[in-house]
Amino acid sequence: MPAERPLRVADASVIVHPDAESASKDAADRIERIVADAVAARGKAVLGMATGATPEKVYGLLAARVAAGALSLRDATTYNLDEYYPIQPLDPLSYRSYMHRHLFGRVDLAANRAHILDGTVPEHAAAEHAAQFDRWIEADGGLDLQLLGIGRNGHIGFNEPSDLPVDEFAALPTRLVDLHPITVADAVREFGSPEAVIPRALTMGVRAILAARSIIMLATGAKKAPIVAQALKGPITAAVPASVLRTVADRVVWILDEPAAADLG
Ligand code: F6R
Repeated sequence: MPAERPLRVADASVIVHPDAESASKDAADRIERIVADAVAARGKAVLGMATGATPEKVYGLLAARVAAGALSLRDATTYNLDEYYPIQPLDPLSYRSYMHRHLFGRVDLAANRAHILDGTVPEHAAAEHAAQFDRWIEADGGLDLQLLGIGRNGHIGFNEPSDLPVDEFAALPTRLVDLHPITVADAVREFGSPEAVIPRALTMGVRAILAARSIIMLATGAKKAPIVAQALKGPITAAVPASVLRTVADRVVWILDEPAAADLG
């Protein structure tokens, strides 16, 4: 099996693994180190979590390490990137349910330290709820880590492609958004049909994501190859949200498998 290969694409630090297993193990190892370093430095680790298909293996590895006594999330606090809106937490399609299945229900993280945007807030209170989420992250001292996946349209969290200037896009707060047609199309996998997809969501803003002290962008599979190449080699533009990660390149690592890296050249 070929070994992982580190790449520099423009200013970005990119690590290409032979397969998704090895990429996921790299991400899990880094998360474990970030938790250990943050807990040693300030008694807690503040982790931004992602959902979707990509991080499932990472959460499986972290859960296995906790079960084996090799890792503890006792001193961790988590903030998830996003949640459908509106949705009940017990709905199996909610990201709260996803996190419970893949991580929270399997590790020693305290339930009252796991923050997920609330898909049940009344719409008139959504903006204040989102602003409060940003204030909680700040009050916690900011994110030690943000784990990200990338949408086929380049979205990070549910910060969808936009025609805003880059500096305005980079300053976007946590808020209620409409999902992009590509995001809706990809969500049919979970919801069963386009009509069943909940077309809005609460998402962590670009500002909080970019402020994280460390960012892991994990992308696997051939379907991600074109957008990964655009984000890393095309212009930095809000039309390709993940390209904006290059404005904080020294804090970001892109962990890819070979299929996702196929268009990097
Ligand atoms: C999930 C999220 C999204 C996903 C992205 C990739 O919390 O914020 O940005 O990371 O849509 O999804 P998958 O991994 O399912 O391809």
